[in-house]
Amino acid sequence: MNLQDLIELKAKALGEAEAATDGDALEAVRIEYLARKGLLPKVMQELKNVSPEEKPMFGKTVNELKNELTELIKQKQAGFAGSAGAAGAGFDLSQPGQWQGLGTRHPITQITDRITQIFQTLGFTVADGPDVESVWNNFDALNTPADHPSRDEQDTFYLNNGDLMRCHTSPVQVRYMMEHKPPVRIISPGRCYRRDTPDATHSANFHQVEGLYVDENVSLADLKGTLSYFARELMGPDVKIRFRPHFFPFTEPSVEVDFTCHVCQGKGCRVCKNSGWIEILGAGMVDPNVFQSVGYDSSAVTGFAFGMGIERITMILYGIHDIRNLYENDVRFLSQF
Ligand code: DAH
Repeated sequence: MNLQDLIELKAKALGEAEAATDGDALEAVRIEYLARKGLLPKVMQELKNVSPEEKPMFGKTVNELKNELTELIKQKQAGFAGSAGAAGAGFDLSQPGQWQGLGTRHPITQITDRITQIFQTLGFTVADGPDVESVWNNFDALNTPADHPSRDEQDTFYLNNGDLMRCHTSPVQVRYMMEHKPPVRIISPGRCYRRDTPDATHSANFHQVEGLYVDENVSLADLKGTLSYFARELMGPDVKIRFRPHFFPFTEPSVEVDFTCHVCQGKGCRVCKNSGWIEILGAGMVDPNVFQSVGYDSSAVTGFAFGMGIERITMILYGIHDIRNLYENDVRFLSQF
């Protein structure tokens, strides 16, 4: 190789580096010329065969080739990295996409929405109330006697200012009737609090849906019809419901409502403890004393109310055996629903 060949080689190398359009092409040029087994080390070995006159110029040109090519490659690499960064942190079209995973709604949210939907088709609207309530809204206005055990500090969380964490969603009835004249047709899903020690079926905070229907001539038959419709929509057309007499301070008469067991269809199994029935909710005809508390004329209107625990229904529908699973936020559990 003579000086002329070397000058041509230099032009070729710089030209190739200049023409490279991405990092890979540039790296190929670097390997071709500058790597240990590349062309440049070979050219260096030629030095001893170059004529004495050309030798100084030859040496100088080899150095130029090495330095200029190294510098050019470095600059262009930086340019590629910069533009890739600007286009989105090294965005590589050829890489498989990163799967972010679609979330699911929490089972409690799903069942709350389902219950809400069913009552909305009957013309109920959703009413809301705060978690922190006055004793009056939570107990007094709901005709709860002063010595009722649920008022006890062992059952209800009280705040220092005398308010409490509501122990049911029933105070929303009170709030709504204080602000609206009849007719009233509301449901109110929300969070409630009780001083319970957590176990498989108890949690110190949980969710309920409250329902209230007030108008002229509302009867127990309307309550039965409404809840039968609800039961069929929730569980399917074959479900039967039964009313058992019960007591709640805010309703008279009061009932507890059972659905036929969804597992054995009423034949009797482990889930329903062989009774064929599963207790789902409490209900009744609004006590005239409640109407009096909120300023309604109990000789002009009647109404029914009901309340149910959302966790309980969620656990029944999804076959969940421990309520704590619903609060531990383990995605392996939650993503199954
Ligand atoms: N508040 C009751 C509870 O927490 C549930 C309930 C029963 C609500 C009967 C009602 C009702 O509105 O009429 O156990």
